[in-house]
Amino acid sequence: MQMGMEVWYFKLILAATLLGISSHALTEDGETLLEIKSTLNDTKNFLSNWRDTDATPCKWTGVSCHPNDLRVTSINLPYMQLEGIVSSSIGKLNRLQRLKLHGNSLHGVIPNEIAHCSELRALYLRANYLQGGIPSEIGNLSYLTVLDLSSNLLKGAIPSSLGRLTRLRYLNLSTNFFSGEIPDFGALSAFGNKSFIGNLDLCGRQVQKPCRTSLGFPVVLPHAGSDEAAVPTKRSSHHTKGLLIGAMSALGVAFIVLLTFLWIWFLSKKETAANRYTEVKKKFESEAATILVTFHGDLPYPSSEIIEKIESLDEEDVVGSGGFGTVYRMVMNDCGTFAVKRIDRSREGSVQLFERELEILGSIKHINLVNLRGYCRLPTSKLLIYDYLANGSLEDFLHERGDDRGTLSWSARLKIALGSARGLAYLHHDCCPRIVHRDIKSGNVLLDENMEPHVSDFGLAKLLVDEDANVTTVVAGTFGYLAPEYLQSGRATEKSDVYSFGVLLLELVTGKRPTDPCFIKKGLNIVGWLNSLLGGYRLEDVVDRRCTDADAETVEAVLNIAARCTVASPDDRPSMNQVLQLLEQEVLSPCPSDFYESHSDYC
Ligand SMILES: Nc1ncnc2c1ncn2[C@@H]1O[C@H](COP(=O)(O)OP(=O)(O)OP(=O)(O)O)[C@@H](O)[C@H]1O
Ligand SMILES: *[C@@H]1O[C@H](CO)[C@@H](O)[C@H](O)[C@H]1NC(C)=O
Ligand SMILES: *[C@@H]1O[C@H](CO)[C@@H](O)[C@H](O)[C@H]1NC(C)=O
Ligand SMILES: *[C@@H]1O[C@H](CO)[C@@H](O)[C@H](O)[C@H]1NC(C)=O
Ligand SMILES: *[C@@H]1O[C@H](CO)[C@@H](O)[C@H](O)[C@H]1NC(C)=O
Ligand SMILES: [Mg+2]
Repeated sequence: MQMGMEVWYFKLILAATLLGISSHALTEDGETLLEIKSTLNDTKNFLSNWRDTDATPCKWTGVSCHPNDLRVTSINLPYMQLEGIVSSSIGKLNRLQRLKLHGNSLHGVIPNEIAHCSELRALYLRANYLQGGIPSEIGNLSYLTVLDLSSNLLKGAIPSSLGRLTRLRYLNLSTNFFSGEIPDFGALSAFGNKSFIGNLDLCGRQVQKPCRTSLGFPVVLPHAGSDEAAVPTKRSSHHTKGLLIGAMSALGVAFIVLLTFLWIWFLSKKETAANRYTEVKKKFESEAATILVTFHGDLPYPSSEIIEKIESLDEEDVVGSGGFGTVYRMVMNDCGTFAVKRIDRSREGSVQLFERELEILGSIKHINLVNLRGYCRLPTSKLLIYDYLANGSLEDFLHERGDDRGTLSWSARLKIALGSARGLAYLHHDCCPRIVHRDIKSGNVLLDENMEPHVSDFGLAKLLVDEDANVTTVVAGTFGYLAPEYLQSGRATEKSDVYSFGVLLLELVTGKRPTDPCFIKKGLNIVGWLNSLLGGYRLEDVVDRRCTDADAETVEAVLNIAARCTVASPDDRPSMNQVLQLLEQEVLSPCPSDFYESHSDYC
C-alpha cells in the first residue's frame, strides 16, 4: 500500500517535471513580472524581450535572478521612460532584493504589498510622479538599507514604523509634500536635513524646525566628525638596488662583445622564427645565456637598443619594488616608455616564477590586463618588459598620494572597479586554461594615463591544467586580501580571487587599506569591520570622504556586491562573470544622475 503510494507520487513528480520541460512554462516570478509589465506603459519598448515564451525571466532587460533557484532578486529599470503604475503584484516577488524604478514617469501609489518583499534591501523610486503616502508596512522590511523616494508627489506624515529599519543607511524623502513631525526615533533619528529637503510642512529636530506643539527643544544635530584614520602603512622597502648597479657595470665589457654576437646572429636569423614570438639566443661561453624574447613583434626596437637600455637602468629609474623584485622605468630613444621588472635571482623559486609569468602573460592580451612585451634573461638577472602605466598603482593613488595629483573621484573608482572586474573575469572565464590570479590587491591594479585599470602580476597565477595543479603549500598573496579558506588550506581558487576582489571593492569605497590600523586594533580586517557595523552606520559614514561625487545608489550597490564576494563560504560567492554582470547592471545604469537636467535622447 505504502509502496504503491510512493510509486504514484513519483510518477506524478516525473509527469510534472516532463510537462515543465516540454512546454517551457515560464516560472512563477516570470508570470509576476508580466503582470507588473501589464500596468506599465512601456513607451519606448524597452521591455520587448519580456516574453511569456521564455522559461525564465533571468535574461530579460533589467532582471537578475539568483543563480541557483532562479528566483528574481533584482529589477533594475531606471530612466526607461516607463509610464503607468507599480502593480501590487510586486509583493509576490518575495525574494526581491533591489527594486530600481527611478527616473521614470510612474504615477499611482506605492503598493502596500511591497512589504511582502521581505528581503528587499534597496528601493529606488526617486523622480517619478508617485502619489499618496508612505505605506507604514515598509517598516517591516528589516533588511532595507536604501530608501529613496525623493522627487515625487508623496504626501502625508512620515510613518514612525520607518524608525524600525535598523539597517537603513540611506534615506531620501526630499522634494515631496510630506507634512507633520518627523518621528525622532530609531533609524529616523540618524538622518539629517539632507534627507528631508523641500518638504515645507515637515518639522522636527532633523530639519531644525520646531513643531508648534513642542517648542523649545535644543537644536543640536549630530555632526559627523572627520576621524579619517591617518596612519599610513609603510611601503615595502626598495631593496637590492646596489646589487644591480654592481652587476650591470661588471658586465659592461662583456656586453659589448655579446652585443656584437647578438647583432650578427639577429641579422642572419631575422625571419626564421615561425612562432608567435621571435627569440634571440646566444650561448656565451659557459651555462650563462642571454635571451631576448619579444612577443608578437610587440617591441619594435633593435635588440641592441633594448639590451643597451636595460643595461643602463639604475637607481634613478626605480619606480617601485615588491615581493619579486624591482621595477624600473625604461625610456627608448623614440621616447617609448616601458616598465622593466627585474626578478631577484637570489630568491627561492624565482626562476620558475619568472618562466611562468612569462608563459602566461605572453599569450594573454586584454585591455584590462598589463601587456607583457617581452623578456630578457641575462646571465645575472631576469627581466620582464611591460607596458609602462603612467599613473602607477591604485594602491599609491589611494593611500600614498598627497592631494598634489588629485584624489580619485567616485566615478573614477567605479571605472576602476569595472575594468579590474573585466580583466579578472577574462582570466577566469575566457582564458584556456583558466587562470587564478592569487594576488589581487590594489598594488596590482595599475592605471594608465586615462585612469583605465590594468591588472598586473600574474607571477602567482597558475594554469589550471589538472585538478591538483592548484594545490600549493605556500600561501602567496597579501594579508588582508586573502580568503579565509585560502589562508587555511593554501588552496587558491577562482573563488579566493573573488574574495580578494571584494576586498578591493571595499578599499575603493572606504579609501582605507584592508589592514588599516583602525580595524587591526579590533582584531578585524576590512570585511569583518564592515560586518561588525551591521546597521549602525550611514552610507556617508563609510564612503571615502574624498569622493564628493559619490551617490548612495552606486555606493550601496558596490557595497552589496563586495559583501557577496566576501562571504565566508566560497560556494556562496558569485563567479567573476557574475560579479562583472552585477557591476554592469547596478553601476552602469543608463544616464546616471543627469536626469534632472533633461531627458536626453540617448537614454
Ligand atoms: N607596468 C608598470 N608601470 C608603471 N609602474 C609599475 C608597473 N609595474 C609596477 N609598477 C610600480 O612598481 C611598484 C612595484 O610593483 P611590484 O609588482 O614589484 O610590487 P607590488 O605590486 O607592490 O607587490 P607584488 O610583488 O605582490 O606584486 C608598483 O606598486 C607600481 O607602483
Ligand atoms: C502610453 O503612452 C503613450 C505616449 O505617452 C500614449 O499615447 C498612450 O495612450 C499610452 N497608453 C496607455 C495604455 O496608457
Ligand atoms: C508588519 O509587522 C507587524 C508587527 O511588527 C505585523 O503586525 C504586521 O502584520 C506586519 N505586516 C506585514 C504586511 O507583514
Ligand atoms: C542642515 O544642517 C546643517 C548642519 O547639520 C546646517 O549647517 C545647514 O544649514 C542645514 N540646512 C538647512 C537648509 O537647514
Ligand atoms: C536627496 O535628494 C535631493 C534631490 O532630490 C538632494 O539634493 C539631496 O542631497 C539628497 N539627500 C541625500 C542625503 O543624499
Ligand atoms: Mg605587483
